[in-house]
Amino acid sequence: MQLKKKQAIALSSLIAEEAEAPRIISGIAEFDRVCGGGLVPGSALLVGGDPGIGKSTLLLQATAALARCGVRAIYISGEESAAQVKLRAKRLGLADTPVELGIETRLGNILATVEKPAERPPGILVIDSIQTVMADAIDAAPGTVSQLRGTTQELVRFAKRSGWTVILVGHVTKEGQIAGPRVIEHMVDTVLYFEGDRGHRFRILRGVKNRFGPTDEIGVFDMTGNGLEEVANPSALFLSGRRDNSSGSVVFAGMEGSRPVLVEIQALVAQTSLGTPRRTVVGWDSGRLAMVLAVLDTRCNLSLGSCDVYLNIAGGLRIYEPAADLAVAAALISSYCNVPARFDSAIFGEISLSGEVRTVAQSDKRLKEAAKLGLTHAIVPAGTTTAQPEISLQPIEMLSDLTDSFLAQADGVAMQPRDQDRPHENDNR
Ligand SMILES: Nc1ncnc2c1ncn2[C@@H]1O[C@H](COP(=O)(O)OP(=O)(O)OP(=O)(O)O)[C@@H](O)[C@H]1O
Ligand SMILES: [Mg+2]
Repeated sequence: MQLKKKQAIALSSLIAEEAEAPRIISGIAEFDRVCGGGLVPGSALLVGGDPGIGKSTLLLQATAALARCGVRAIYISGEESAAQVKLRAKRLGLADTPVELGIETRLGNILATVEKPAERPPGILVIDSIQTVMADAIDAAPGTVSQLRGTTQELVRFAKRSGWTVILVGHVTKEGQIAGPRVIEHMVDTVLYFEGDRGHRFRILRGVKNRFGPTDEIGVFDMTGNGLEEVANPSALFLSGRRDNSSGSVVFAGMEGSRPVLVEIQALVAQTSLGTPRRTVVGWDSGRLAMVLAVLDTRCNLSLGSCDVYLNIAGGLRIYEPAADLAVAAALISSYCNVPARFDSAIFGEISLSGEVRTVAQSDKRLKEAAKLGLTHAIVPAGTTTAQPEISLQPIEMLSDLTDSFLAQADGVAMQPRDQDRPHENDNR
């Protein structure tokens, strides 16, 4: 066998010779923001999510919005029949939009269709879903890791070569990592996950990787019979349904990317009748909860070792910020002491293992949002300042200061959690 002769490649400077192509704006503000301010021509996106969460609905709406703006939009479904997609389009009121629909699973045919010479410039190609697409050259069933990798690579190459923006839908499989969107995350430019709790109407589009913009942005949608509606003011939504005078409930002033979001954190602490107390967390990291409990125990003498602990982020949102530590601790202490937190109060701060409360970034943005929602008080790390005159600050230096303030209010009130607060033993949310 003759070895190929090695050739040197031409290197260039970092000075860009071509002007950046303008972004493609769909007009769905929540979608555009998560994409980093619109779609980049020639890029590849992956939209992942659980089955049935609303991926096809979201992308059909986005494609229709783009088609209405004059962008060429092709929607290829390998999962549904043309009649099914048309029925959805009718339900969403999009039947009259100039989206070009195709039903196909063979990659060669899809690319031949899109590459067919046309007078119009490249636009958007949606593949719903990448797990149904197969390349003839790969000898494996659709949805297997090798098909997924091979077809994605081909589609990414096609996007870069042709200037089409390719959006791939990926199902999160039960096994999580195997043959799920994770396998192809590194190949695409942007990865968005569509999340939500099936019990809630609200859906969150979260950017987890973006080569052309910030990540950790979220877009909030409301799933209605007429499709996904944008939620312009998520804080008001996440705080709706909050009850005054309820212990264990606090308002966390968080940040999701560039946007402040207020959300209710609920905790329930109850004496356990089990040998190993239960720790149930919805919407937050259970490891982080264990850390807050350990700090409460060691630094504040508040032992919850014999208590079941339930923690829930209301509205189906997932929080990743360490700035929620103090809010979680406050919810736990409030429930344990059976003392409601102030209804007009927001809270944020990071807790260190020594029990110190650390300042967090963008505190004024958080407080501004709290003021906008009518809150007048905030429990914050010591050293936090604000330009919001309507908010009075309660600075906390050590976590024990917070436990002391709740315990002082609990004076005279029974310290143990009430019997009726005790959860049902086989409640396994
Ligand atoms: N007639 C309807 N009225 C209200 N909501 C509906 C209706 N039909 C479907 N939906 C909503 O749309 C969701 C399904 O949306 P969609 O098909 O876009 O999800 P998906 O993520 O693409 O699912 P799949 O994993 O099957 O591809 C349903 O879970 C339901 O909430
Ligand atoms: Mg679908």
